[in-house]
Amino acid sequence: MPKKSMPAAGDPADRDNRISRARLIELLNEDLAREYQAIIAYVVYSQVLKGAKYMSIAKELEAHAGEELKHAIIIAKQIDYLGGDPTVIPNKVKTSDKAEAMLRFDLQNETDTIRAYRDRVRQCESLGEFAMAEHIRAILMQEQEHQIDLATALGEDPPDMTS
Ligand SMILES: [Fe+2]
Ligand SMILES: [Fe+2]
Repeated sequence: MPKKSMPAAGDPADRDNRISRARLIELLNEDLAREYQAIIAYVVYSQVLKGAKYMSIAKELEAHAGEELKHAIIIAKQIDYLGGDPTVIPNKVKTSDKAEAMLRFDLQNETDTIRAYRDRVRQCESLGEFAMAEHIRAILMQEQEHQIDLATALGEDPPDMTS
């Protein structure tokens, strides 16, 4: 189906969760591209973060990389189950030579990811895909832990996501 005729994420049609299976496949492919991005970012950032005060978060980022890979596999499986083709293209990964900037990129990506998966749970349920919604809920729990880890490393509270 042509992409233009579909409601974009955040359109009213999305907000009340009435979406087609074809649209769900598209959105899950956006999620998969974001998971690939997260894998790449965590692989690289965990190795290039320098400085004594970042050593413990660097270890955590390494663990995140492995979790993001598992998420990617779960999401690809759901796309295949729905009859779609899992994407092979990651979202672009930002780079910086500053530790704090890297942590900020990760925090922003986790926040975007959490927002997307919250929508996805509702959309899966609206299509009667309850098992898929459960898989995404399990991923969501880990993304929220990632977000907390990053906010903590930056010495902040996790962003307020109510709205
Ligand atoms: Fe993930
Ligand atoms: Fe994550």
